[in-house]
Amino acid sequence: MNTRRLATVLIVLVVGSVSPFAIAQTTGPSYDAPAATAPAVVAPQPADTQEAPPLRFDLIAGDLDQRIDRLIDQMTTAEKIGQLTQIYPSDDQLTEETAQRIRAGLIGSVFYPGKRSVAEEAQRIAREESRLGIPLLIARDVIHGLRTVFPIPLGQAATWNPALVEEGARIAADEAKSERIDWTFAPMVDISRDARWGRIAETLGEDPLLAGELAAAMVRGFQQEQNGQITGVLACAKHFVGYGFAEGGRDYNRVSISQADLHNVALPPFKATVDAGCRTFMTTFSEVNGLPGTAHTPLLRDVLKRDWGFSGFVVSDWGSITEMVAHGFASDTADAAALSIQAGVDMDMCTLAYEKHLAELIDAGQLSTERLDDAVRRVLRCKVELASRSPQPVGMLLRPASLEAARETVRQSVVLLKNDNILPLDETKLKQVAVIGPMADAPVQQLGCWSLDGKAEDSVTPLAALRDRLDGVAEVMYAPGAKNTFDEDASVIEKAAEVASQADVALLFVGEDATLSGEARCRVSLDMPGVQAELIEAVAETGTPTVLVFLAGRPMSIGDQVEQSEAVMFAWHPGTMAGPAIADLLFGDASPSGKLPVTFPRSVGQTPIYYAHPNTGRPSPDNYRPLVGSGEDDLPGEFQYRSHYLDEELGPQFPFGFGLSYTSFDYSSGSVSRQTIEPNDTITLSAKVTNTGTVDADEVVQLYVRDKVARSVRPVRELKGFQRIRLPAGQSKEVEFTLSTKDLAYRDNEGNLVVEPGEFTAGIGGDSTVELDMKFTLEEALTTAAPSASQPRIPTATTGDQAVR
Ligand code: NOJ
Repeated sequence: MNTRRLATVLIVLVVGSVSPFAIAQTTGPSYDAPAATAPAVVAPQPADTQEAPPLRFDLIAGDLDQRIDRLIDQMTTAEKIGQLTQIYPSDDQLTEETAQRIRAGLIGSVFYPGKRSVAEEAQRIAREESRLGIPLLIARDVIHGLRTVFPIPLGQAATWNPALVEEGARIAADEAKSERIDWTFAPMVDISRDARWGRIAETLGEDPLLAGELAAAMVRGFQQEQNGQITGVLACAKHFVGYGFAEGGRDYNRVSISQADLHNVALPPFKATVDAGCRTFMTTFSEVNGLPGTAHTPLLRDVLKRDWGFSGFVVSDWGSITEMVAHGFASDTADAAALSIQAGVDMDMCTLAYEKHLAELIDAGQLSTERLDDAVRRVLRCKVELASRSPQPVGMLLRPASLEAARETVRQSVVLLKNDNILPLDETKLKQVAVIGPMADAPVQQLGCWSLDGKAEDSVTPLAALRDRLDGVAEVMYAPGAKNTFDEDASVIEKAAEVASQADVALLFVGEDATLSGEARCRVSLDMPGVQAELIEAVAETGTPTVLVFLAGRPMSIGDQVEQSEAVMFAWHPGTMAGPAIADLLFGDASPSGKLPVTFPRSVGQTPIYYAHPNTGRPSPDNYRPLVGSGEDDLPGEFQYRSHYLDEELGPQFPFGFGLSYTSFDYSSGSVSRQTIEPNDTITLSAKVTNTGTVDADEVVQLYVRDKVARSVRPVRELKGFQRIRLPAGQSKEVEFTLSTKDLAYRDNEGNLVVEPGEFTAGIGGDSTVELDMKFTLEEALTTAAPSASQPRIPTATTGDQAVR
């Protein structure tokens, strides 16, 4: 430890409860490039050469802890560090050097090398040829499906259907397992309220309750836990924590997040994954309130491991240990390794910093054997829990039932944003259908940003599905109108308009290629990229009724395009079964039932925009009209000095939770079971929902609650429950939500759990604009929480190695 860091530690120890986010880190700026090649392989020596031959992984009997203890007792320091080392084999062959390192027990995890046979060989070497036979964890980003690609996570979130999302993860895990993959880096549970950020595509939206429920469902589906054994693959909640709040919506950028948002918005979905048994966590690349996520002792050791009792292991993100040098936080790779292992990062993803430096840190007294063993124990626990898994047979890919589940997920994820009585289409009345747009036949782009194993030849595009469906019924005329969504060449627009002019209906498939969203793919504009706006306008001007179907990885500002067309569907990046599912909806085999998991802004300038915002002291009146475009010289008095933009209307283009259907739903008789609620009581809120149309359909019923006055400013409303229900035409259902006082609690700026007495209002409806017409009062305050697993408190600094867990 250098003297300046030692000084920092001492200051923290003296000051005690100083806010962890205020700790000054004073490391030097020198940069050590991440290790490109591994150190020379040195075969480990048994701890005690006099002992009998080691008991190998498969042969050790006993309960979980006994097996792990026995293994750790036999391991050399090099073998222990090996368990904390993950590598990326750069080709689809195992080089002799990699094979030798696995054989020597120096590798704990390998990225999937792209081929089952190579994965099997790597695993065989670890199991059969290494001294202790400890298996590898073979890891892969199986985020929204392996070969059967499901909608991107943001699309899955639009289903508001945890059971369906769980089923998708189960199918992904089964396919992954059949490829010999043990560990996926999902679910991503970062909350994002900024559509500029390319990784919003991978999130489960803007709301902590919705994201938490769906992330927990994914964990269950991926891991398929039975009696403490993982029968699926290990899940990984990422990126702990705050990554989605990147400043300016630019990936990897700093995160400056209030304690209130950290505790009430960013952390709860991660806690939901721990409660669902998630075995691994990944750190964020970003710096969070001054500390890189990969060395964030207060969040990793204090919140996650101590307060939440997380017994799995934490892996860094790719390269994020050595990237702390570029952050200006670690002085060199050795310093970075020390900081991250001490902060609670158990496994090093691909920098080799642990392999290179942990032994010397131990020798120098900067890393205790207890902490090293703790990290190894966490990794071994997962390996033991996976060990009794029966290997999945081959032939699991693209099974008909999996494709059907993917199709159903698309059907439930598509959000109908507008319908001027044009949908569903009646095929018997159509003679010519124009299919237009760069996303109509883009088999790779429809798969979305995280589909490493999805294949173009498996994708059914909207064009292919429509041709198939309308074969012998109507003529399908196709004109892409642009090479891709960001093509700047307008020369083929005229041709597309000509095709549209000859048709009974124009179906326009537009949006964003998958290459425009995902990691490090951020935008400063949310407008239609390329010449698509002109394309839509040209088609609309033909007078042919137009249906816009967006395939995209983020909310977009599409007000003009919505106005120009008769109907609009937002289909996200739907995956393999995009075409058939969209056709099902266009022709009314199913009614759209997706609801927005994120707010759609009118303009990028409104970002960040989200429904659960706090009020200002000067909210604008609902009838606010912007000055620009009003023709007046200035705002009228009642609009002045209020919170708004001069050149944009109030509020979003489409609110959170919004989505139309081919039927209509009426909400009536909202009622509360009691007027007052006391600590440890529950209260039931209910409403009667009626399908008042002529079509059987699903509705996502949503409960929003507002805490009217609190000593920490609370959002104007928060989602407190949701249920997807099926209602046949003409039928009604009483939908109930039961809340406990804990559901009404919030964390204050110090992280204390607070339930304040006072009035709450609530409303049940079909989106986040529902009127809050129910009322109840909380009679008594719950005492401020003491720190415990269920009631985390503000993290306090734990520096260095003094609190090993
Ligand atoms: C970096 C990404 O941030 C993370 O989400 C992913 O799992 C890893 N790379 C591994 O590919």
